[in-house]
Amino acid sequence: MTEKLWGGRFQKTAEEWVDEFGASIGFDRELVLEDLEGSTAHVKMLGKCGILTQEETEAILGGLEKLKEQAKADELEYSVELEDIHLNLEKKLTDDIGPVGGKLHTGRSRNDQVATDMHLYLKERTKEIIALTEDFQQAILEQAEAHVETLAPGYTHLQRAQPVSFAHHLMAYFWMLERDKGRFTDSLKRIDLSPLGAGALAGTTFPIDRHYSAELLGFAGVYENSMDAVSDRDFIVEFLSASSLLMAHLSRLAEEIILWSSQEFGFIELDDAFSTGSSIMPQKKNPDMAELIRGKTGRVYGNLIGLLTTLKGLPLAYNKDMQEDKEGMFDTVKTVTGSLRIFAGMIRTMTVNTDVMEEEVSKDFSNATELADYLAAKGMPFREAHEVTGKLVFTCIQKGCVLKDLPLSDMQEESTLIEEDIYDVLAPVAAVRRRNSYGGTGFDQVCVQIGKAKELIGVATK
Ligand code: ARG
Repeated sequence: MTEKLWGGRFQKTAEEWVDEFGASIGFDRELVLEDLEGSTAHVKMLGKCGILTQEETEAILGGLEKLKEQAKADELEYSVELEDIHLNLEKKLTDDIGPVGGKLHTGRSRNDQVATDMHLYLKERTKEIIALTEDFQQAILEQAEAHVETLAPGYTHLQRAQPVSFAHHLMAYFWMLERDKGRFTDSLKRIDLSPLGAGALAGTTFPIDRHYSAELLGFAGVYENSMDAVSDRDFIVEFLSASSLLMAHLSRLAEEIILWSSQEFGFIELDDAFSTGSSIMPQKKNPDMAELIRGKTGRVYGNLIGLLTTLKGLPLAYNKDMQEDKEGMFDTVKTVTGSLRIFAGMIRTMTVNTDVMEEEVSKDFSNATELADYLAAKGMPFREAHEVTGKLVFTCIQKGCVLKDLPLSDMQEESTLIEEDIYDVLAPVAAVRRRNSYGGTGFDQVCVQIGKAKELIGVATK
């Protein structure tokens, strides 16, 4: 049985299964490099403040360096009896360099240590997620630029509404992602703070320099209150919340991809690299990756609700409940990074069936608003124009045709304001081109939008 690092006060040891239940080493081993980095900064600070001698500082730093190399080479083995990554590493250090290793924990506690690790970890992962989101935006831009003049049915209630530029539809996601990036970027301000040196909760009697260790770790600042420093998990909640919204966006696009690639729609074809076959039906090509991302959205929401629930009603300061903050965070990082990577590739490589979409928009009633607007522009109150158009749509349905095929005489029966030029107005391409209000789907507006988007993410405009 390994002796506990905190065993002094105890008369007997816990049974193995109890240790196992309490241990976090099974998952917090993911923080090994952050933990070593945090310890390195802490020791340097202790040395600089004269709390450890130069000799002691160097001995510990040497030991930590060796552990870092072993960690990078994946050579470290951990023990459940040592509970977590912090105690496992401290034990290894002491085994290696002797009792001086025990001085590493001067002026700190596992409470500020674990919080520091989490801040370091999440800061880097958040930056990576921002970069991946931007790459995905780039993929959207590439497709959008190629499809400014590709007509597509626009929907409300999943019913054909008005024709749009396909680029316009895709670009809607660009802007959602821009907001997602904004949320992650904003959260960085609060991630970028050092809890190190807060101790267990109350600070320490040693003359430490928290600003110095924060600076060594690249943090922009330090927590102002030691109790807040060790109790705060808001930054993880924010991360999970920004991730949840991002996943909501991804799952909406996933749903569209799934619809568009169905035989019923046939608007796009996914690259083989992002589709799978069926084990029984040879003809099938399934949009599995899009479905999986839609499905994984649920676990990210679950992680958010899980942590919020864990934190609810927790008294200050550290409570063991907080050990539950990790798995959901790791899982979310993995899910979000994976989903963004897959999505960028899927969008970049999909084939857009422009003919199918254009054919579709020419045989529906999504140009009915054009007729109503045409009449309104000629002075008829819009409500009345709406009524007239509705009647003409009904006539078409009875005749089994669409508006552009309805003879002028039939139209004039409802309103003599309608003249020969109506047929130009009814052309879907005209319907799209003319929607040139700011932010509308008119081709010119879509180009303006794409230009702004490129400027935002620093892509050279053609
Ligand atoms: N494994 C613990 C966690 O992840 C580390 C902090 C433990 N602190 C304590 N006072 N037991 O929360």
